[in-house]
Amino acid sequence: MIYMLDTANLAAIKKAYDLYPLSGVTTNPTIISKENKGFIEILQDIRNIIGEDIMLHAQVLGTTAEEMIEEAKYLKEKIGKNIYVKVPVTQQGIKAIKILKKQDFKITATAIFTAQQALMAGVSGADFVAPYVNRIDNISGNGVEVVKNIIDQIKVYNLDTKVLAASFKNVQQVHEVSKIGVHSITVNPEIMDKMLEHPLTDWSVNEFIKDWKKVYGQSSNTIISEV
Ligand code: G3P
Repeated sequence: MIYMLDTANLAAIKKAYDLYPLSGVTTNPTIISKENKGFIEILQDIRNIIGEDIMLHAQVLGTTAEEMIEEAKYLKEKIGKNIYVKVPVTQQGIKAIKILKKQDFKITATAIFTAQQALMAGVSGADFVAPYVNRIDNISGNGVEVVKNIIDQIKVYNLDTKVLAASFKNVQQVHEVSKIGVHSITVNPEIMDKMLEHPLTDWSVNEFIKDWKKVYGQSSNTIISEV
């Protein structure tokens, strides 16, 4: 499983980078606009936290292939290594993906609601395809089913593309796509924390400490002995 964090919030990125096996940070124009700072400044700040080995996904805003390509070049020039250009799967987006792939860009096809959109993006050369699980569920679709169909298609057509499932609103949605072998997920910081939280885990840890202290003394906070 490749874990990514869907946010541009620097404090949240710092925390997740420190604690979790984070392989990438994903953003989109809505996520960026929440930070109310310059676009490139935010991306550079994120890069300073995560270094160059962790993927940074940033989205184009243009609606024509030409605009998207120009923006992709701008992103590569400003952010450089390990930047994944997110391109929505419109007609113009698919055209942009084909052209950018020939120029060695790393691409994440985004705003995916159907398996056929993902297939065409994959065949066009997208490295990742990002289906929006919760947004599909919200239109009475089945986000997990769409993810499953995309995974199956990738196998059938022997594509190098990976599924980056996105738009989660709860841990159960993440669990369902994990069960079917999704390659990667991107979740907001809250869900990332919730994936690990369990009151019985905290209770158990506290019990271990209490039992330990009963025998080794109230001030004994470690198993390391002086001897
Ligand atoms: O980054 C794209 C995707 O994760 C959007 O999620 O929560 O706005 O549906 P959401």
